[in-house]
Amino acid sequence: MNSTARAEAFCRRFGLTLPILLAPMAGASAPTLSAAVGRAGGMGALGALLMQPQEIRDWVRDVRAESPGIFQLNLWIPDPAPKRDAEREGKVRAFLSAWGPEVPTSAGDAVPPDFSAQCEALLEARPTAISSVMGLFPPDYVKRVKAAGIAWFAVVSTVDEAKQAEAAGADVIIAQGMEAGGHRAAFHAETAERDLVGLFSLIPAVVDAVKVPVVATGGIADGRGVAAALTLGASAVQIGTAFLRCPEAKIHPAWADAIGRTLPEQTQLSRVFSGRAGRSVATAYVRAATGGNAPQPAPYPVQRGLTAPMRGEAGRQNDIERMQAWAGQSAALSTTAPAGEVTRRIWTEARGLLGT
Ligand SMILES: Cc1cc2nc3c(=O)[nH]c(=O)nc-3n(C[C@H](O)[C@H](O)[C@H](O)COP(=O)(O)O)c2cc1C
Repeated sequence: MNSTARAEAFCRRFGLTLPILLAPMAGASAPTLSAAVGRAGGMGALGALLMQPQEIRDWVRDVRAESPGIFQLNLWIPDPAPKRDAEREGKVRAFLSAWGPEVPTSAGDAVPPDFSAQCEALLEARPTAISSVMGLFPPDYVKRVKAAGIAWFAVVSTVDEAKQAEAAGADVIIAQGMEAGGHRAAFHAETAERDLVGLFSLIPAVVDAVKVPVVATGGIADGRGVAAALTLGASAVQIGTAFLRCPEAKIHPAWADAIGRTLPEQTQLSRVFSGRAGRSVATAYVRAATGGNAPQPAPYPVQRGLTAPMRGEAGRQNDIERMQAWAGQSAALSTTAPAGEVTRRIWTEARGLLGT
């Protein structure tokens, strides 16, 4: 099957008019953004990691009210409870106190919302797809998702993870290259920095290893990236950073501006915000916290709790150097046009390059 036929088959199956998916982005999944991408014929997305069931229900209601309602709801598979290390946390707290307010001893105790309650909220919402990242859903949940007629999209970062996901019943594999903004999808925190695979190598290798459709994500920000991904065997693409400057994304203006001027080598993968490896703008805090004299970050989600006071203050003070400014390597290709326009333009450019 050629690339256009593959993309068309994917679109038909999921009710899309173009093969562009908005990436789920925890903390940056405004309903307005999904609604705009949906109205343009693409798929919306919610990164529900930090949301309580009622917040998930509200998001679904808002997006359905303003769009055809085709979207994926995404959750992180929780890691085992982190090993706490008071001495290490004390060093991180002392380091962070030079970058923001004093960090209370209890800051590392913050716990994420209950995973099983979130899973139930996702099922009840009956979305087009439910997606997993950082691991796989338990088999009994996968059965219930499928029985409800919902597709399971599994995000992976290596060929081995793609095979595991297909064997566990994933309907679609989302292959995330190391260029991606935000957290790496690696199933195990410890392999996230070691197994860094770029999207040019990952797409054909995953396509050859599995039978289900593959969606490419990471560093795709214009028609050239889409045409390349489809040519390499993807059935669709998923785009995150390139939608963050759109007005409908409603992120902090300092973060949006930084995305527009960040070159590929000015992003950096680190654990310094949450304890899990993620790609952000290489701000002054990121450079300092990954420098030789900085303490080792605490594990996820302890580090997220410890950095919360600094991140909060940075937002209030418009200080990009201390913000959690997630960005992929193609950040500077993004524009400030409305999301529907971006979606349509990228697909028109890609079709021109693909000769269709
Ligand atoms: C701000 C932000 C938050 C993200 N949160 C999630 C998330 O909650 N779940 C997930 O599967 N991926 C998450 N990602 C990764 C994206 O889904 C996607 O893989 C990535 O944005 C693709 O790379 P790009 O940003 O270069 O387009 C996030 C990315 C960003 C930029």
